[in-house]
Amino acid sequence: MGVRIFGTGSYIPEKVLTNFDFQNMVDTSDEWIRTRTGIVERHIAPPEMSSGDMAISAARRALAMAGLQGSDISAVIVATTTPDHVFPNTASLVQVAIGAENAFGFDLSAACSGMIYSLELAYSLLLQKKYRYVLLCGAEKLSSITNYEDRNTCVLFGDGAGAVILGRCDDDNSGQLASDLHINGDYEDILKLPAGGSRNPATHETVEQKRHTIHMQGKETFKLAVNAMAGACKAVLDESGVDVGDLKLVIPHQANKRIIEAVAHRINVRDDQLFINVDKYGNTSAASIPICLDEAFRSGRLQRGDMALMVAFGAGLTWGAQLIRV
Ligand code: ACO
Repeated sequence: MGVRIFGTGSYIPEKVLTNFDFQNMVDTSDEWIRTRTGIVERHIAPPEMSSGDMAISAARRALAMAGLQGSDISAVIVATTTPDHVFPNTASLVQVAIGAENAFGFDLSAACSGMIYSLELAYSLLLQKKYRYVLLCGAEKLSSITNYEDRNTCVLFGDGAGAVILGRCDDDNSGQLASDLHINGDYEDILKLPAGGSRNPATHETVEQKRHTIHMQGKETFKLAVNAMAGACKAVLDESGVDVGDLKLVIPHQANKRIIEAVAHRINVRDDQLFINVDKYGNTSAASIPICLDEAFRSGRLQRGDMALMVAFGAGLTWGAQLIRV
């Protein structure tokens, strides 16, 4: 028995914010953003659209690709940093919208590493016979927690959602080949949303001080991200005995093209193996890897039986890699 990907889907909101749009909002330039991040544009959801709405659209597309109904799904996991509400969870909104009447579900909070963590859970769940298909969504409305007066952060983030359906299959070779997951709270302050939780509940002051938006020490995050992601990639390659040259695709979390290229360089990934779409969407946190997976499948860059290495790094700190045969 193996586990494979049966369907993927994504949803990208229509509205585009280009680097040139930011030139009218903060002291920045298209040239600075392009050369420092690789980002050219990002998509922004309209005010009435939530992370859950985007997850539902992505999930419906994944179900259609898989040829499944909502009632076939045994578990719904939504990785998000921008849930619709503190409670109920966003997974319950997805569950009811797709008619997943036989599922249990929950949200997973691991920032940009959400899909790497979710995959670990999905592969573990599917070892049990009572679970048949697991729906993973990564969905973010980062525009709802971005301070558009802070040039250090506002140019980096975008909105979107991706979904992946994993299920058991007869092919023993398909499945998780290796994984390497980490969490380390020593650096919780370099990347955080300071207010709005139980430590600093919302007050007029927290709103005025924009403490409900992303606060980030970019340079520090950059260095930690490169080291951690390269380390996780090496760990899964070592554990599996897979040669990096045999991978069909390496799908890194899309935060910054320079981070992606630095990691690729350290593990000797060829250009044709590297999946990059940060230019189109910016950093969509937990949504970035499932959006990449969906684009990779739909464009034929990834096909059944291929090996793919996914790697991410985010607030927490959280980081990790998954090496799978899809
Ligand atoms: N336009 C123009 N100048 C800018 C901008 C901007 N948009 N943003 C920052 N600058 C300035 C800074 O103020 C600084 O100026 P100073 O030297 O006068 O102080 C200068 O540019 C250089 O800033 P650095 O921080 O050194 O720039 P760096 O090359 O490190 O790039 C960046 C900054 C893009 C943020 C980079 O550090 C980065 O990508 N970090 C990682 C971000 C990340 O991966 N986040 C991950 C997870 S997000 C999550 O989990 C939700």
